[in-house]
Amino acid sequence: MCGIVGYIGNRDAKEIILDSLQRLEYRGYDSAGIAMIDEKNAMIVRKEVGRIDNLRNEVFKYHRDVNSKLAIGHTRWATHGKVTAPNAHPHCDSRKRFAVVHNGIIENYQVLRKILIDKGHTFSSETDSEVLVHLIEEFYKEEERNLQSAVVEALKLVEGTYGIAVICVEEPYKIVGARNGSPLVLGIGENEMFIASDVNAIMPYTKNVVYLEDKEVVVIKSEQFKTYTLDYQRIEKEVTVVDWDVAAISKGDFETFMLKEIFEQPEALGNALRGRVQPRDGVVKFGGLTMTPEHARSIDKIIITACGTSWHASLVGKYLIERFAEIPVEVDYASEFRYRNPILNDRNMVVVISQSGETADTLEALREAKRKGAKVIGITNVIGSTIAKESDGGIYLHAGPEIGVASTKAFSNQLMTLAMLAIYIGRLKNLPLYEGERLLDELMTIPYKIQQVLNQAETIQKIALKYVKNKNFLYLGRGFNFPIALEGALKLKEISYIHAEGYPAAEMKHGPIALIDENMPVVFIAPKDSLYEKIMSNIEEVKARSGRVIVVTDNHDSVMESKADDLIFVPGTIEEFSPMINIIPLQLIAYYIAYEKGLDVDKPRNLAKSVTVE
Ligand code: M6R
Repeated sequence: MCGIVGYIGNRDAKEIILDSLQRLEYRGYDSAGIAMIDEKNAMIVRKEVGRIDNLRNEVFKYHRDVNSKLAIGHTRWATHGKVTAPNAHPHCDSRKRFAVVHNGIIENYQVLRKILIDKGHTFSSETDSEVLVHLIEEFYKEEERNLQSAVVEALKLVEGTYGIAVICVEEPYKIVGARNGSPLVLGIGENEMFIASDVNAIMPYTKNVVYLEDKEVVVIKSEQFKTYTLDYQRIEKEVTVVDWDVAAISKGDFETFMLKEIFEQPEALGNALRGRVQPRDGVVKFGGLTMTPEHARSIDKIIITACGTSWHASLVGKYLIERFAEIPVEVDYASEFRYRNPILNDRNMVVVISQSGETADTLEALREAKRKGAKVIGITNVIGSTIAKESDGGIYLHAGPEIGVASTKAFSNQLMTLAMLAIYIGRLKNLPLYEGERLLDELMTIPYKIQQVLNQAETIQKIALKYVKNKNFLYLGRGFNFPIALEGALKLKEISYIHAEGYPAAEMKHGPIALIDENMPVVFIAPKDSLYEKIMSNIEEVKARSGRVIVVTDNHDSVMESKADDLIFVPGTIEEFSPMINIIPLQLIAYYIAYEKGLDVDKPRNLAKSVTVE
């Protein structure tokens, strides 16, 4: 959580920081701040509660004329300390010689804070981060003027995670950055340099980037950078050229990122398939994953671990892998996985799924699995993310940047990737050629079928708007579509703040049925699959108790039509791939309800896109 950015060069640094923070806002958006060093070498700091626009207004009101070529900025998702201006970053020492922006958590901050207070430091925030700037002040030696060494000595005392950028009025020609557990990327321009939590922030300025690793330190000047270990050893870093398109991080003709990303799904899924499926041989190929038939046959259990929406995709993955690859699959919340005693052996395969590739719980689950000797496959969207780097083998989602906090296209691409992975392993085992062919032929139709659902957006919007005033929703599905019920409910909850629960449809009668009355809309995901008749009975049970029934189905059935209050028809496919189609109307329902309520769908309250704290 939280986004940090720094700039050094010849342009107006405040403009670049404010602009870049806007693109990092999805990482946290309760408050923001900027520190810049002006032409007289004075530190100018502005911190505001609220969005970046608010900060921008204040910066231009009070500091319009500041001519600064060096600045750092931060957008916050509160962990330690309330949402107030003093708790916002950057944090400074009392003489305003140093300014620090931090993403992560300093776990031993209370001990450090006490030591520093005893030494005479005065704190002005409740945050864990503020100890960093006081430690740096403590270690800074006037005679040496070596910011790097003060930062490194400070970091040696710190336990926890950090991605930081530090500036100092005594050395107004450099930024010192460092990371441990929180992402940090360096952007290389012409006589200018950038540092940021992720590439989105700096993409309009440069595509040449260097990803820092844990326990690395970088000293940035406008024309050069040098990277070091925490032991001051120089390290050479590879420059990567990012191929994401800048247009991908703008809203284009859409009012919100979320709507744009929902509508991008056919294209995003096409990108996930491209170059990987070979229908005539019935096989899938992944660049970052090579498995022999012997290896595939030796796997006796797969454990998939993830959080939130990625966890829902994992549940669909379980159904898919068990069906096509005939390997037992366990799905675990990443936050639970590492705190129990997962029994792993060398015949197990662990799959971690994360859009951002930075989710702290998922990353720690990956590390725990590796510690126990398991081979880990990482499925991520963000290229160069920590999970991508630390996995033994990896598959990228190729969904493009996902900016809306509520995950949509990354989820669809996770489902597509898991379907391909299941077929990939299946074909190395017992899945026959004709089955591989049939499945891949069908898989390639999915983007077109999703486009057909999107073409009905207006109809779905009209249905959604009937339910804007409802306070509770139930989502019910069975089999492959049970996780879609969970995901539909999560989408509604997180962006519309309406209470919603997802259940396997048959579980309704074991409790949730008590909630049903005329005020309870129930969304049924009811494709014409092996469980269709059973879900029809569940619909009858809801109708018998005056519940309002919204059905997503591919089946034109007069009985269903007479029972449902609202029907959304989607194109048919095989039951294994139906989740990819059925989630689309549920994303749209959540979107239109939240939008009608006037809520900020891209940045729902209390949430952040990358959850980099446990
Ligand atoms: O980046 P990840 O996929 O690891 O993120 C996991 C969850 O934090 C994420 O899916 C979250 O639940 C989203 N807000 C869902 O829309």
